Amino acid sequence: MKTQTISFYDAHPGAANLLQEVLDGLNASPRAIPAKFFYDERGSELFDRICDLPEYYQTRTELAILQRALPDLVRLIGEECLLVELGSGASKKVRMLLEELRPSGYVGVDISREFLLASAEALARDYPWLQVHAACVDFSAGLRIPQCDDNVHIVAFFPGSSIGNFDAPDAVRLMRDVGELVGPGGHLLIGVDLKKPVGLLNAAYNDSAGVTAAFNRNLLYRIRTELDSDVDPQAFEHYAFYNPSLARIEMHLVSNLAQVVHVADQAFAFAPGEGIHTENSYKYTVDGFGDLAARAGFRQQAVWCDEHKLFSVQLLQNQPAAGQPES
Ligand code: AVJ
Repeated sequence: MKTQTISFYDAHPGAANLLQEVLDGLNASPRAIPAKFFYDERGSELFDRICDLPEYYQTRTELAILQRALPDLVRLIGEECLLVELGSGASKKVRMLLEELRPSGYVGVDISREFLLASAEALARDYPWLQVHAACVDFSAGLRIPQCDDNVHIVAFFPGSSIGNFDAPDAVRLMRDVGELVGPGGHLLIGVDLKKPVGLLNAAYNDSAGVTAAFNRNLLYRIRTELDSDVDPQAFEHYAFYNPSLARIEMHLVSNLAQVVHVADQAFAFAPGEGIHTENSYKYTVDGFGDLAARAGFRQQAVWCDEHKLFSVQLLQNQPAAGQPES
């Protein structure tokens, strides 16, 4: 069987960003490094393992919700759309959508180049009728995707509650960019994790197999291997907890001892218990997320949840008339 060639666009979100953002983050107070840097090849693999953990309810719950929503989605979205997946990673969830929606084209957008290409190639092989594009882009820094043509109905797919990594202003900014990408009447199909009992949340980010800890520490392995650095990942503890007043999981890497870490030509002193903030994962109510989406010009067209209200999948429609840009 002949496999179609993939069109590949590379904005080179590379090592230069990593060095600059790591230095900026370590010089900031409190220290923080953006969560997008988790996803090198090893980090993407570790994240895939997280998705299969018993404590990590999100992935299987979202898959089940999507499965159940498919007939509605086909009816609401219609045929021949261009499906643009943000943070496509292993592109597993999208397969279900592709099979039922039968879009004319698919664009995988991810910061992790090797992972992106491998999964785009697998999709092109498995769905020969589909035009497959891949864009290696850091979409938190803007959404420029040349493969998108204005004349088709564009549906952006942003699963996994990755929107949770962004605080409210950045989430609104990102959804506005998505609104511009999909155009008037275009859609955003988004997975949004919901507020829930704190025990469930804490367990999901402190799994007993230690995969989340390895995922968190992978950031330090990256710094050690890709940058000129002597950081010892084992000298930092994984620390994750739900912060109820800010409605978010916070992940940190906390120094076990007094130490000095070098990156490039700079030295960073850590006291025992001093840390680096590595991730936020915001949790929402369905209505709370609807308000956020409205600020970006989207209306909630349909919302599906599991029976325990752990997770939601939301179909948002861009309606430029009602949601004029604020700025
Ligand atoms: C990919 C951002 C949705 O916040 O749950 C999983 C990443 N971090 N375990 C999340 C993650 C730790 C994940 N998101």
